[in-house]
Amino acid sequence: MGTSLARSATGKVALVTGAAGGIGAAVVARLHAAGASIAALDVPGRLAPRSGRRMLRLAGDATRESDVSDAVSQTVEHFGRLDWLVHTVGRVGSGGIEACSLAEWRSQLAVNLDSAFLFCREAAPHLAAARGAVVLFSSTNGRTGGSAVSGAAYAVAKAGIINLARFLARDWASAGVRVNCIAPGPVDTVMLDRLGAAGRARLLKTIPLGRFSSAEQVAAQVAFLLSDDCAAVSGEVFNTSGALVLD
Ligand SMILES: NC(=O)c1ccc[n+]([C@@H]2O[C@H](COP(=O)([O-])OP(=O)(O)OC[C@H]3O[C@@H](n4cnc5c(N)ncnc54)[C@H](O)[C@@H]3O)[C@@H](O)[C@H]2O)c1
Repeated sequence: MGTSLARSATGKVALVTGAAGGIGAAVVARLHAAGASIAALDVPGRLAPRSGRRMLRLAGDATRESDVSDAVSQTVEHFGRLDWLVHTVGRVGSGGIEACSLAEWRSQLAVNLDSAFLFCREAAPHLAAARGAVVLFSSTNGRTGGSAVSGAAYAVAKAGIINLARFLARDWASAGVRVNCIAPGPVDTVMLDRLGAAGRARLLKTIPLGRFSSAEQVAAQVAFLLSDDCAAVSGEVFNTSGALVLD
């Protein structure tokens, strides 16, 4: 962990969503180890009942307006401020649009895109007060158009995340709030397990570097983007895909 992050993280408060997931849990561990206080949110029953200093566990549905607003207020009530928002909540789908019901389409957009809108909106005044920073999660699917492996709605939602980050980067710049986006290629979390061993091996062959990212590597990138080393970086999209996607 870099000295700049250690310097920037002490006294900072981070709200991490999807905190029981592969990437979310790694982000929580990384920022906590660097000295930040963490509010960790996931759906009820998913977060391990760990106790620890500088740790607030929140149960909620990131697609429900009242749950999101409660999570942000509880964070600020508990820690007194909110500096960083890391929104990792997401869910892959599969297939084209022919067999996709309107309910499933809406559910995918709600989990992958509405949730980011809600958290950013609710956190906005607190982030502005702290001159804070945000990291949102897109995907290579959001850059390339995706495929039936992850589904149409997922690709559309993840493209939306990129423009949400870019919009906010400009709109919040005068308040000193930075917003960046990571668009990972395959990361070795449960999200890849659904592909099975043969599917994983096929996917690996498509990656020029011949390796998946680990959740810890992605968490290190989040920490870097939040740190003062990136004080002039906002509105950027980082592929983190082993050279799979380059633009
Ligand atoms: N793992 C990958 O290969 C990969 C690749 C590209 C992009 N991403 C993106 O990175 C992010 C994190 O991925 P991951 O691999 O850690 O996924 P994951 O499935 O391990 O974690 C996602 C977490 O979000 C939580 N969640 C889902 N719906 C929720 C809701 N409505 N309210 C609250 N929490 C909810 C889940 O319970 C889970 O803990 C996601 O946005 C994903 O789309 C992942």
